[in-house]
Amino acid sequence: MIDETTWGELREIAGRYPEKRSGLLPMLHLVQSAEGRITPEGIEACAEILEISAAEVSGVATFYTMYKRRPVGQYHVGVCTNTLCAIMGGDEIFATLKDHLGLGNDETTDDGLVSLEHIECNAACDYAPVLTVNWEFMDNQTPDSAKRLVDDLRSGVDVHSTRGPKICTWREAERVLAGFNDGLADEGPSAGPASLVGLRIAREHGWTAPGYEPKAFPGGALPETKQEAVELADTARAESETQLEESGADFSNVTPENGSADD
Ligand code: FES
Repeated sequence: MIDETTWGELREIAGRYPEKRSGLLPMLHLVQSAEGRITPEGIEACAEILEISAAEVSGVATFYTMYKRRPVGQYHVGVCTNTLCAIMGGDEIFATLKDHLGLGNDETTDDGLVSLEHIECNAACDYAPVLTVNWEFMDNQTPDSAKRLVDDLRSGVDVHSTRGPKICTWREAERVLAGFNDGLADEGPSAGPASLVGLRIAREHGWTAPGYEPKAFPGGALPETKQEAVELADTARAESETQLEESGADFSNVTPENGSADD
């Protein structure tokens, strides 16, 4: 049963986009947050608000693996078994967790606390083998650390992502994916040394991509911290907007359909 609050929030998401059907993916995440899964009622609600058919909504919900037709655990554990993680131990971790939890792929413990899924590459190969809990990274895992992780989750111990915030529940995570900020985006170390090693080596050797002008502060200093990088990006964006304004270009005929101004 979709309650009034959720109906209102689904409409709010649809209203964030020039073409309201563009809101379908976050709307489905909100359905999962409210209902614990993609329900027929959730599909109907999305279809009604977006003025598309339930079959169209269902087609999207069944295409992407992050949308679940059956309830998952309060903590949904993904084990990357894609190439690099697999050879670094992901296959062994997955086999260990299946045995430890008594679960198959896409199954949930009887207490409803932990579900298990093998997942594809998370673009986190530099920390292989990688697990996710409610889509937060747990880096450099081993069969033993993975067993400790699920035991801690089941016993209510606070668990922190290795480069993110304290692990929240699956429904809370789905609400964030729907676009409702929980204020925790900057918690944790974020990009770690393994992700930045290429940047460090490139700087040491003075390498840049062909045609790339490295963004730097006036005076040539490169950003050293996340905050400095954000400030630099903001400055660059403001400069581009000023240049566009000064160019006198007319973008009034740009629409979501054509994506560019006619000459
Ligand atoms: S192969 Fe596991 S994150 Fe890329």
